[in-house]
Amino acid sequence: MSETKRGAAAAPPWAKPTRLRICPSILSADFARLGEEIARVERAGADFLHVDIMDGQFVPNLTFGPIMVEAIRRLTRLPLDVHLMIVEPLRFLDAFASAGASHLTVHVEAVPDPAAAARSIRARGLKAGLSVKPATPLEPLLAALPVADLALVMTVEPGAGGQAFLPGSPDRIARVRAAIDAGGWDCLLEVDGGISEETAALAARAGADTFVAGHSIFRSGDPESAIRRIREALARS
Ligand code: DX5
Ligand code: ZN
Repeated sequence: MSETKRGAAAAPPWAKPTRLRICPSILSADFARLGEEIARVERAGADFLHVDIMDGQFVPNLTFGPIMVEAIRRLTRLPLDVHLMIVEPLRFLDAFASAGASHLTVHVEAVPDPAAAARSIRARGLKAGLSVKPATPLEPLLAALPVADLALVMTVEPGAGGQAFLPGSPDRIARVRAAIDAGGWDCLLEVDGGISEETAALAARAGADTFVAGHSIFRSGDPESAIRRIREALARS
């Protein structure tokens, strides 16, 4: 599949109004009331719903698999941004594609060839995401940007919600932003972990355009106003 440059006639990156997306992570939602929780963030203007898949191997924690994604698919019209924190993710691309994922992200640490993995995801009609853990060199991600639809820079060690945003994150975000703009790639730059009003603004200033947030939305007691406050902080950033 071909590389995705922005069209030749498109405005240069600095002239392009950036759409900032907020993606609530259901990891921190109340699973006994999942339908209601999702409806609330959908009404509040969430852009994607972020769904974390953990296998107890790639990360110590364990969540759920395609059956749950299929159930969530029936609860919402929001695009499902599925984040695979699993070993051998390529074995499960078909299952998550059939379950209704819109964006499917694999970790560069979990695949032998990140660009080939992105092409396999796109071949299934999905947007292809590639993610890096905080201590992973960025080069494998940067090399695959021409065939990625989403680059996910982890801003905490993956595996659990409610952790603090790592201070080294803005520099890493800025390096990925510079590479996306230099290549003219049509690729979202997503951040995930410890995102609140303050850290969303920090990440946005470093070049992120897509913001995953779990605790700060679902554990706030008022998800609607949490989303509004993050959006306002982004508008000011
Ligand atoms: C962590 C997950 C995140 C998590 C973020 O490994 O990938 O998506 O839900 O949660 P917060 O926003 O609470 O850090
Ligand atoms: Zn995630």
